[in-house]
Amino acid sequence: MNAAGQQFAFFDLHPPVDDMTAEVQRGLQESPKKLSPKFFYDERGSRLFEAITRLEAYYPTRTELGLFDAHLQQIAALIGQDSCVVEYGSGSSLKIRKLLQALAPSAYVPIDISKDFLLSNAQTLAKDFPSLHVFPVCADFSQAIALPPQTNGMHRVGFFPGSSIGNFEPEQARTFLTRVAGTLGRGGHLLIGVDCKKETKTLELAYNDPDGVTAQFNLNALAHLNRVLDADFNLRAFAHEAHYNEDLGCIQMFLRSLVEQRVDICDEHFHFAAGECLHTENSYKYAPAEFAQLAGSAGFDCQQQWLDEKAYFGLYLLRAR
Ligand SMILES: C[S@@+](CC[C@H](N)C(=O)[O-])C[C@H]1O[C@@H](n2cnc3c(N)ncnc32)[C@H](O)[C@@H]1O
Repeated sequence: MNAAGQQFAFFDLHPPVDDMTAEVQRGLQESPKKLSPKFFYDERGSRLFEAITRLEAYYPTRTELGLFDAHLQQIAALIGQDSCVVEYGSGSSLKIRKLLQALAPSAYVPIDISKDFLLSNAQTLAKDFPSLHVFPVCADFSQAIALPPQTNGMHRVGFFPGSSIGNFEPEQARTFLTRVAGTLGRGGHLLIGVDCKKETKTLELAYNDPDGVTAQFNLNALAHLNRVLDADFNLRAFAHEAHYNEDLGCIQMFLRSLVEQRVDICDEHFHFAAGECLHTENSYKYAPAEFAQLAGSAGFDCQQQWLDEKAYFGLYLLRAR
């Protein structure tokens, strides 16, 4: 505890490396082969994602920040005081700082899978907000998470910006939101940013930036597995691709094998044909009415929604029933 009475405690619920090996091997045995997008995020992946958010082509972050600047005072008034903000996939972002300033909550629980990045960002944030209790939790948010006992009895406010909800398949998104509603408890709020459907050209440019930062981010998933799982992916033998699938309403990212090759992960071998794609991410886009319907089916009422003038991005304040 510091002079201002601040508490800081770190909770590590990180899944063991063995589980990660089995999960990666299972994904590579599927047809088509796939990897979970959570493997993008080691420390370098988190930094590359930050670089993406600053790209001209990548409209979601600046549009969401614009919505924050325009509406945070109103959001704070709707939520009220003495809350505990629980951020799912906290990374490092300007958005949480803006929310904490506007809301002045009692506690903040950043949840992230990238342990070192989580801890260092939580420590920096605790220094910058000396009267805020900070309880970082290293966990996979697609699993059930017990929140730190220090937050029991507080009004919980979930925060899930950046359209990360779009990384789940729609049915998984419903499961995730249902679990979040349960964690936040009846009357708890969820402030969530969701990318809208729009013309293909704008969407595809955002995921195929001319500087190749998104390509580096996509390939970094392989570098991450090489480092953590003793895999031997040759990064020069894969190429980044991203397309908008209009039927599904989602951007799909792939790593295309440029040659026929074998990859070893621990004691398993995986064969890639020349031209074969490894699917690394889906990013679903939701029209506002579609998202309100999804949230409703997961136990939330939509209290208020805000869109930018081009209707590129939506910010929704939900309330658990
Ligand atoms: C796209 S960043 C978002 C950062 C910040 N919330 C924002 O909107 O700017 C996603 C963050 O979620 C984390 N993440 C991704 N998948 C996760 C998972 N399954 N469980 C926990 N954290 C996850 C990553 O480590 C990363 O920091």
